[in-house]
Amino acid sequence: MAQYNNTDNPAFENIIELKNISQSYDGGQNWIIEDLSLNIEDKPGQGQFACILGMSGSGKSTLLRYIAGLQEPTKGEVLIKGKPVSDDNRVSMVFQQYSSLPWMTVLDNVGLALRFKGISKKDRDLKAMEILELVGLAGHEKKFAQYPTLSGGQLQRVAIARSLLANPDILLMDEPFGALDIRTRIQMQDLLSEIWEKFHSTILFVTHDISEAVYLGDDIYILKAQPSKIVEKIEIDLPLKRNRETKRDPRYTQIVHHVEDTMIKVSGM
Ligand SMILES: Nc1ncnc2c1ncn2[C@@H]1O[C@H](COP(=O)(O)OP(=O)(O)O)[C@@H](O)[C@H]1O
Ligand SMILES: [Mg+2]
Repeated sequence: MAQYNNTDNPAFENIIELKNISQSYDGGQNWIIEDLSLNIEDKPGQGQFACILGMSGSGKSTLLRYIAGLQEPTKGEVLIKGKPVSDDNRVSMVFQQYSSLPWMTVLDNVGLALRFKGISKKDRDLKAMEILELVGLAGHEKKFAQYPTLSGGQLQRVAIARSLLANPDILLMDEPFGALDIRTRIQMQDLLSEIWEKFHSTILFVTHDISEAVYLGDDIYILKAQPSKIVEKIEIDLPLKRNRETKRDPRYTQIVHHVEDTMIKVSGM
């Protein structure tokens, strides 16, 4: 198997760098992550849609927490645009669980990021409405952001809309569609793909679903567990614009099989 080499392509800026990360929760007796390195490059005018694919417990959420500045590794360095993680970084996170505030309307939930910046209610609402249109929630803005007033898919749209309104340089997504039924999941994948095309942002998307990673990702990083390490980077050789046809492309099926074989090899199944 081709070993992942943390090589730099000098043509692109490294937007996210994890350098020789190790993680222990018991003072160094057990290492959950060991000497993990990862470079995510920003392709000018295109952004980046990177997927991290790994089994449950392989450390995916932990890696996102480092990048979001919610946790520091035991050893190693986390850099965003070449600098240590700080509050100045515009990083947004979308979680698997619905993270909206159920006592607030959809509109207020989405506008929340701007409230802390001191932007007036009127301007917040205008901007929030633009994004709500984009994610297909226009008409629902006055509803409370709670289940079952909104469906699971709609609540995830609220979370995505809120993250987009914060205008992040980096959007971190932690198995955001994991709790959705298959039909809604496919709709949300297509929505995200469309959004990425418009915004050209850097998305780091974490999933254990192989077909989802191949469908959405531009690059896929395969993470093995115990201890966690990136074992392979797969550049997805499919047209950037993804749609239903993508899944009928023989290359799509080939890549899915290749990734599946790799996952089986690294998990020792
Ligand atoms: N606070 C903690 N204390 C001890 N172990 C932890 C802690 N947080 C995470 N872990 C362990 O780290 C590993 C990776 O967890 P996580 O990043 O949540 O994996 P994933 O998101 O891929 O399912 C798991 O084995 C988990 O049990
Ligand atoms: Mg997780």
